[in-house]
Amino acid sequence: MKIIALLVLANLGGIALSNKLYEEHDRLVTWRLRNIVDKYKYLATGNSEFSQWIEKINNVAAQRSLEARLDTESEFKQYDKQRQLLEDNITQRLNTLRSLISLRKGGKRCVRFYQHQENELKNAYKLSNQRKQELYINNGMECPARPEIQGYDYDYYGGY
Ligand SMILES: *[C@@H]1O[C@H](CO)[C@@H](O)[C@H](O)[C@H]1NC(C)=O
Repeated sequence: MKIIALLVLANLGGIALSNKLYEEHDRLVTWRLRNIVDKYKYLATGNSEFSQWIEKINNVAAQRSLEARLDTESEFKQYDKQRQLLEDNITQRLNTLRSLISLRKGGKRCVRFYQHQENELKNAYKLSNQRKQELYINNGMECPARPEIQGYDYDYYGGY
């Protein structure tokens, strides 16, 4: 009898303990989500994809489902990691472009070509990851050599 009573008590104790751990974990997840909102709400301003993420995080932080909160947190982290990698690449390309421009690399025609890329990229920070990626890829070209014959290609690049 005594042993059974002890086992029952120990078992109940285990449940109480795991409930406590669960609650602790639950609170921690909510705290992390609120932290994301506090940390990023200003940075996200003007970037509609980023702002929507912050709004989603803010909403899910108030939800009961721990699973929903954990899922949203991990999806956001993926988005945010990609965003940072893309922004690092854009910043690096902008630095390269600014140095090419200040060295007047390739003369006036190429300076215009690089300034056009610089304008496209410096406005890319507030765009969606998809657009960042496209602009980064589309603005990584070297200034094309001046064509020998003023043909189709020359007209194509003539604007720069
Ligand atoms: C950043 O640039 C490097 C080098 O061009 C490229 O390999 C990488 O995929 C780029 N990162 C992203 C997230 O596009």
